Amino acid sequence: MGNYNKSNEDILVLAIESSCDETAASVVKNGREVLSNVIYSQISLHTVYGGVVPEIASRKHIEKINQVIEQALSEAGVRLNDIDAIAVTYGPGLVGALLVGVSAAKAISFATGIPLIGVHHIEGHICANFIENKGLEPPFICLVVSGGHSHLVVVKDYGEYEIIGRTRDDAAGEAFDKVARAIGLGYPGGPKIDKVSKEGNPDAIRFPRAKVEGSEYDFSFSGLKSAVLNYLNSCEMKGEKVNTADVAASFQKAVVDVLVDHSLDAVKQYGFDRFAIAGGVASNGSLRRVLEEECQKRGISFYSPSPIFCTDNAAMIGVAGYYEYKKGVRHGFDLNAVPNLKLGERI
Ligand code: KG4
Ligand code: ZN
Repeated sequence: MGNYNKSNEDILVLAIESSCDETAASVVKNGREVLSNVIYSQISLHTVYGGVVPEIASRKHIEKINQVIEQALSEAGVRLNDIDAIAVTYGPGLVGALLVGVSAAKAISFATGIPLIGVHHIEGHICANFIENKGLEPPFICLVVSGGHSHLVVVKDYGEYEIIGRTRDDAAGEAFDKVARAIGLGYPGGPKIDKVSKEGNPDAIRFPRAKVEGSEYDFSFSGLKSAVLNYLNSCEMKGEKVNTADVAASFQKAVVDVLVDHSLDAVKQYGFDRFAIAGGVASNGSLRRVLEEECQKRGISFYSPSPIFCTDNAAMIGVAGYYEYKKGVRHGFDLNAVPNLKLGERI
């Protein structure tokens, strides 16, 4: 620890993320270079319950947070003295889970005098694209698809977003998780459906691709989820055996088709030549492959974070925090968890 030689120009952000079931901390240099990225995933604790149990998540965050922060500093070879800002996710997310990270960040900031910066979780997901794509700059369009959100966003500038499409009901990741549960794959559904789909026929069952009347970029996944449940019921009634891999692959194709269609329409309509994806569902193999191919055909540069930066992590919060820091954003010790913080909202 402490072997990092800091130059005067370097800005180091210590970032903390605890909005759901990952306790994470990271040190990010100058907004684009990840010096450490520590993630303690609680997934195995929640698997038996078929989803995240908020109370268990909060308790585990409390147990792990200090250890994860210390490890992030030590792996980066950095002392607290070297840190210029502490960035922490303050929403959206589970209130009890968010509070653990926010309290830890406030305590460190209070004890050391290091400035505190609250970061929006989804802005973090979008900013994950800056880590491995050093040349990527706004403006561009980003599809954010996670367990709680499905948004098509115009990234106008650092920290400036316009939502042009959103889900009317379930988020894409939520649909993956619910369908996985229904076909007996368990939690977390996304990675399991992604894997099983490789052995299935994506054209075996024609599930609906929903269009939302009057809002061409909005999504709706609850009809698709119901269609899968109806299909499973009708198989049971007829005594037919369900081919899990075919159902998974056909469902995944329906989600991917809708996400790709909406994204490409938006990129064309807005005249952008850069398109990025973000969030847990952005680690889906089929979604990444189809978007890459379709963007290539159209001469659009396609950006996607490595899967480890798609699912929840603190490095992405460090990147978003850096750009907030550069703009002069600072939070006081009255910073609180805001479970339903809106994208672009500043509290
Ligand atoms: O961004 P994230 O880690 O947490 C939230 O902010 O919600 O996203 C988690 C979501 C879960 O619904 C999970 O099933 C989904 O992302 N997910 C995937 C894949 N990996 C994670 N969905 C589809 N394919 C994947 N490979
Ligand atoms: Zn997330």
